[in-house]
Amino acid sequence: MGLLLRDARVVDPASGRDTVACVLVQDGVLRALLPPGSEVPGVEASFDLRGLVVAPGLVDLHVHLRQPGQTHKEDINSGARAAARGGVTTVVCMANTNPPVDDPTVVAAIREWSRQASVRVHPVGAVTKGLEGRKLSPIASLAAAGVVALSDDGRWVQDAGLLRCALVAAKSFDLPILQHCEDVNLSAGGMMHEGEVSARLGLRGIPRSAEEAALARDLVLAEEVGAHLHVQHVSTSGAVRLIRQAKERGVAVTAEVTPHHLTLTDEAVEGFDTNFKVRPPLRTAEDVEALLEALRDGTVDCVATDHAPHAPWEKMVEFDRAPFGVVGLETLLGVVLTRLVHQQGWSLQEALRTVTCEPARVLGLPAGRLAEGGVADLVVFDPDAEWTVRPEEFASKARNTPFAGWHLRGKVLGTLVGGRWAYADEALLRRQLAGAVP
Ligand code: DOR
Repeated sequence: MGLLLRDARVVDPASGRDTVACVLVQDGVLRALLPPGSEVPGVEASFDLRGLVVAPGLVDLHVHLRQPGQTHKEDINSGARAAARGGVTTVVCMANTNPPVDDPTVVAAIREWSRQASVRVHPVGAVTKGLEGRKLSPIASLAAAGVVALSDDGRWVQDAGLLRCALVAAKSFDLPILQHCEDVNLSAGGMMHEGEVSARLGLRGIPRSAEEAALARDLVLAEEVGAHLHVQHVSTSGAVRLIRQAKERGVAVTAEVTPHHLTLTDEAVEGFDTNFKVRPPLRTAEDVEALLEALRDGTVDCVATDHAPHAPWEKMVEFDRAPFGVVGLETLLGVVLTRLVHQQGWSLQEALRTVTCEPARVLGLPAGRLAEGGVADLVVFDPDAEWTVRPEEFASKARNTPFAGWHLRGKVLGTLVGGRWAYADEALLRRQLAGAVP
């Protein structure tokens, strides 16, 4: 019984393993890593994975699944299918649904719906009731209902006194607060990065200070309270500097960066394509360089997509009327491998760390590593296969990717969640040696 993945390059950043091996999966568990060429009599199916990589399934800490309330954009099942196609086996979903996740009944509903989903889904609870920034959500009951963190993502908690109380409460339940650092008094009405390009296009800009002033305040509060602050989608070189200094002082701060902020600049907005309208906005080449360096030296801990699906008709309007946000699940691994490994010369281990064990560590999730006896959440990919991003082929309901038409190097061929194929590409099925796909 079980499944044998033969002669793959097994890469596990958590343990430092990078060897050719056969992976035996049984009863949803990674039963054993066996020497190359191993045969296991009686397995249900075996695959010849020579030249391919097997790694821990990816962990994405920042995903909008839009259920309940906005299922015309995405729902838990479509978002989970998109995740599986992207090699992502664990997603953390944001609280800005309708109603928001500010009540344990909403947490319970999301957990119930997620039982059918093809990947593991962990809900985040709102910091404040209705995401309104006025009074705290019932944090104790959200924690008891099983949220893995607290966040008003999309909205910065403006009231410093309220955030301080939230940090104290979050700390007592061992929950991090994920902050979208944006002072709306500085960003109000802005649609893109404030700079030379916004001036040329005549679009109102969002200055770097909108992020950096908010972040500086939040770091002061987190330091004083001694609570875990996680900074979402860092976008500026100044924010990197603030986080670096805070880490040096021993503040319990972690941070993520998105694939789009690692690859694109404000110049992408020149064609007024709303697929480049995102918050925080795409910044400048200098910021991109600082973000790459920060990810490399650990100032920024991990990559997260901020997968923010919108219906095609919502994005197909004038730039100033379009909602902010881009999707990212189905391009995550391709962009990370293309950008970090093939362009920047990182090793596979170094690049995979940022999307496996590091995001899992940030939220203390039991994911992102390969261990004999541990759950079989795995991704199979071809590190060199080239492919073109075609939004019309997405499993997501949304098409708002900034990477449409990009040629990426590194392609997901299969995703196992609990030992079952949540996604299997035809190229993988052609490598099946015998037996039925379990
Ligand atoms: O671009 C964004 N879209 N940024 C956010 O912070 C929220 C997100 C959304 O929910 O659409």
